[in-house]
Amino acid sequence: MKKVYKAHILYTKEQNRFEVLENGYLAVNVNGRVIAVATDLPSLNCADAEVVDFGDRLLIPAMNDLHVHAPQYRNQGIAMDLELLPWLQNYTFPEEMKYADTDYAERMYRRFVRDLWRFGTMRACVFATIHTESTRLLMRLFQEAGIGALVGKVAMNRNCPEGLSESVEAMVKGYESLIAEFNKPEALVRPIVTPRFIPSCTPEMLRACGELVAKYRLPVQSHLSENRDEIALVQSLEPESTCYGDAYNRYGLLGQTPTVMAHCVFTEGEELELLKRNKVMVAHCPTSNLNVSTGIAPIRKLLEEGLRVGLGSDVSGGHDLNIFRIMVYAIQMSKLHYQRNHERRFLTLSEAFWMATKSAGSFFGQVGSFEPGYEFDALVIDDRDLNHSDYSLLERLERYIYLGDDRQIAHRFCRGQEILEP
Ligand code: GUN
Ligand code: FE
Repeated sequence: MKKVYKAHILYTKEQNRFEVLENGYLAVNVNGRVIAVATDLPSLNCADAEVVDFGDRLLIPAMNDLHVHAPQYRNQGIAMDLELLPWLQNYTFPEEMKYADTDYAERMYRRFVRDLWRFGTMRACVFATIHTESTRLLMRLFQEAGIGALVGKVAMNRNCPEGLSESVEAMVKGYESLIAEFNKPEALVRPIVTPRFIPSCTPEMLRACGELVAKYRLPVQSHLSENRDEIALVQSLEPESTCYGDAYNRYGLLGQTPTVMAHCVFTEGEELELLKRNKVMVAHCPTSNLNVSTGIAPIRKLLEEGLRVGLGSDVSGGHDLNIFRIMVYAIQMSKLHYQRNHERRFLTLSEAFWMATKSAGSFFGQVGSFEPGYEFDALVIDDRDLNHSDYSLLERLERYIYLGDDRQIAHRFCRGQEILEP
């Protein structure tokens, strides 16, 4: 049955401004897609719909996390005293090795999915580990929860401990078994080809990833230009590539199908042009860039150049799963960058919100806005405890973004369905 939701509705169609409907109405069809929004009920032409009144609450699009590592969940908020490459070797790889044990994986992955739910993230691009069975388990947990996810079994076979290295044949076989179970059109949970990053994959592994992408038309996720030592290592491992991005491109892993690359802290010149040309989505992960001390990504420039940019928590390089908090960090980091580099503007609230909703959402289809045809992914925010009587609706949203947490999220929807605690 069609539904109409009444609330104060806020969302971004464009990066520079919010759409605000005080006491608005939003109609959703039986397929979970938005029919329209309006400030009065009759103009929605939905006389046959059930009306749900959320009163004085805020109705906003749900959060999308474009880059997060589920098996690093236990390391969230610890191990922040090293830079990227030693951090991986000393903390991250040893933890990920534990996911050979599916009991351990199930325990940790259940908490991970529940916490994404808690903070209102209804779609995510997720790295798992090399382990096919625990990756399958994670995908089933997302399915059961009703939360949308592109989940990547991680491909890696060099510069890592033996327990995290897999042969090319085993990688392909594992992927094909996940593809057989999950690669259905329109499915909420699907596989995404995930070479960890160039330093972790031999040319044969990268070639096999490119072949999977081409054969099954799967999307791609990885890391790009995150850290200076990493970039130097890539140059030595792939000496023929003209930039780090080109190393992926040569293997058909950079925009041949929808592709999201995390970080791009040092992306400029030829690499920037390549990302733009190939319509690659950038996952900006400000907390991770701070914690692992990689640098400040030039997000204003990337946006001005017309690149697609969304936000990622990158747990556990990032310490916080809450995408609202990631918006705040993105804004604050951009202010540092703007002061140092004499840029024209820093990121604004609407831009950060747009990156987390409509821009990131576009990686999952028509997701992240309340325009007609969009999938109804939404949060109902009950901000009574943060709201003092004289705030405007936009000020209430801003305060929620800066100060709120899961306690104020009253309802969560993904693709039209209310999502209850997993
Ligand atoms: N580069 C390769 N692997 C990783 C990872 O797990 N986290 C981050 N932040 N960067 C990476
Ligand atoms: Fe990462």
